[in-house]
Amino acid sequence: MARQRWTSRIVFILAALGSAVGLGNLWRFPYLAGKYGGGAFLIPYLIALVLVGVPLLMLELAVGQKMQQGAIGSYRKLHPSFGGLGILALLSSLIIVSYYAVVMAWSLIYLLASFGVKWSGNAESYFFQEVLQISDSVNSLGGINWSVLISLFIIWVLVYFCVWQGTASVERVVRYSVPLPVILLGALLLRAVTLPGFLDGWAMYLKPDWHALLNPEVWTAAFSQIFYTLSLAFGIMIAYGSYKEQNDDLAKDTWIAALLNSGTSLFAGFVVFGILGYLAWKTGTPLTELAASGPGLAFVVFPEALSLMPLSGSFSLLFFLMLLSLGIDSAFSLVEALNAAILDRYRHLQIAQVSMVACLAALSLGIIYTTRAGLYFLDIVDHFVTSYNLLLVGIFQTILAGWLYGAEKLRRYINQVSDWQVGKWWNISIKYIIPLVLITLLVTQFSKDIKIPYEGYPTWALGIGWAIVIVPLLLFLFLLVTDSNRS
Ligand code: PHE
Repeated sequence: MARQRWTSRIVFILAALGSAVGLGNLWRFPYLAGKYGGGAFLIPYLIALVLVGVPLLMLELAVGQKMQQGAIGSYRKLHPSFGGLGILALLSSLIIVSYYAVVMAWSLIYLLASFGVKWSGNAESYFFQEVLQISDSVNSLGGINWSVLISLFIIWVLVYFCVWQGTASVERVVRYSVPLPVILLGALLLRAVTLPGFLDGWAMYLKPDWHALLNPEVWTAAFSQIFYTLSLAFGIMIAYGSYKEQNDDLAKDTWIAALLNSGTSLFAGFVVFGILGYLAWKTGTPLTELAASGPGLAFVVFPEALSLMPLSGSFSLLFFLMLLSLGIDSAFSLVEALNAAILDRYRHLQIAQVSMVACLAALSLGIIYTTRAGLYFLDIVDHFVTSYNLLLVGIFQTILAGWLYGAEKLRRYINQVSDWQVGKWWNISIKYIIPLVLITLLVTQFSKDIKIPYEGYPTWALGIGWAIVIVPLLLFLFLLVTDSNRS
């Protein structure tokens, strides 16, 4: 069977951009900027983008496009013993999508609750008590929360229909689901700038605090945000690259996708801080106390602000629709990474069958997050996968492509097919800068987690987190050794 193809350059860029633009652009970037120096944060952020983000994105797209395989097959073509690295990347994808979908399930519940703005007056207890019905601690599972589970099921039906025909169905979806959240953000921005207080919000977002640049934590935050936001080290960009023709342009597409993604983050920051400024004005709470990231922003602080503004129901609807459309292309890109690798290996299978199995597997894994202790597990798993598994894949990937296969060989391929030529700096970035940066991030995180148990969770629960890091890593090392002995 011939390999699936994107029908145009635009849809490829939309798909890659759709994967990159996700919840992180809305609830991580603005928060980090506000916390780590406002406008000054842009300096480490842009440096991280150019030094690490773009070169690594280009590497992944180039590897997929040259090798014409998903993550496992492509890594194996770079070096015969490295197929296991693909498994490591895809396991992270599976784990992440299993909880990413749960966050979307909460968004769906909120979308329905927007009719009547059900959280009015008690945004916090609405989220924790009514929607999550959260248990006292991770020690008590508290049984399944059926409304979350049903909502999760609906999300998975949606995701399935995005990927069930491979690139053909993905293309139809991304034409709408990538521009839509940006348009909705625009509508929310118009709302924000017609409300009092938005300028104070923007001041907190943008007013540069140059001292922040001396704080190493600011730099590690910038580098890890770039890494996460570009959906690197999951096998996604390899899969998406592999659906391009071998002689398609690479360099320009990479820059376009990377810059548009960061542009969306910046834009989202105006919306988030504009609305926070209004909330601060309305409630008299200092802005610094309102600034939140993650679920706290999307499901507590923002809903509260929405409930206080004129036309609250309509704008709540827009907001949660925006959240869903923002997340869905990131969610299905993770499934696409899995599908690509499975279909490479089992060519006789249908895309629809493989998609069904992948979706069902991720749905089943996600059930744990629909218990009343779900938020605790989500927090733990997210912490470990994003702090360790991704960095490990990133490090091994640069060693594999930069040293074993050869950065120069890959760069020559990129230049052969691209209009814009990539200079020798790219090799330096791949071979030295990126591994060094990623190892630094890994070591910093590790020493932090050893000193202080993450968020004070009990040992058994953190043990699950460590197992998610160590078991796949051992599997990868085992495959590496056995494959090397065989060849
Ligand atoms: N890039 C997405 C975001 O910023 C997150 C994501 C990570 C999506 C990994 C898919 C895979 O939200």
